[in-house]
Amino acid sequence: MNDILESIQARRSVRTFTGAPVSRDQLTSALMAAMAAPSARNLKPWNFVVVTRRDTVSALCKLHPYAGFGANAGAVILPFGKKRDFKWFDQDMAAATENLLLALSSLGLGATWCGMDDERQAAVRALVGLPEDQYLFAFIPVGVPAERPAPRTQYEASRVHWETFGGA
Ligand SMILES: Cc1cc2nc3c(=O)[nH]c(=O)nc-3n(C[C@H](O)[C@H](O)[C@H](O)COP(=O)(O)O)c2cc1C
Repeated sequence: MNDILESIQARRSVRTFTGAPVSRDQLTSALMAAMAAPSARNLKPWNFVVVTRRDTVSALCKLHPYAGFGANAGAVILPFGKKRDFKWFDQDMAAATENLLLALSSLGLGATWCGMDDERQAAVRALVGLPEDQYLFAFIPVGVPAERPAPRTQYEASRVHWETFGGA
């Protein structure tokens, strides 16, 4: 396996953190990878709120029903943009978000992609001062890992249809 294939399999969701801070330099490196993602017509709908203040990180993580584990994280990254009437928004944002996770992992940081739906928008938006015309795509606690989930693929040959549906 080459380095990129290895690092893709090494990216795992990390939900336990040491509580150590995460530097702005590291976060910027990961955001550079996020913004290297492909997007439809290269319109790049992505923006990111990056929160590193400890009290705000912990307050944010209390707001999300499945991100309570992040109270001890060093940062929360919130990818967002103008979703309304832009049909490629989710695909473009997902590409950037996966790049971001891969970069964070390659830098030795832990992170978990937590979903943002319509119901979760208002409270998180209010805490970071995001205007109502912006849509929060994901909620990503980031920190120095205190656990190391094992690298793995979840490859299943039965999910691959060679040439036509049902082809083996
Ligand atoms: C759209 C999306 C939403 C997710 N939401 C949450 C979440 O709210 N809380 C959480 O702990 N993990 C969340 N996850 C992480 C998944 O549980 C995790 O990616 C999956 O179990 C596979 O594990 P891995 O990331 O270690 O490969 C989410 C992942 C995605 C892609």
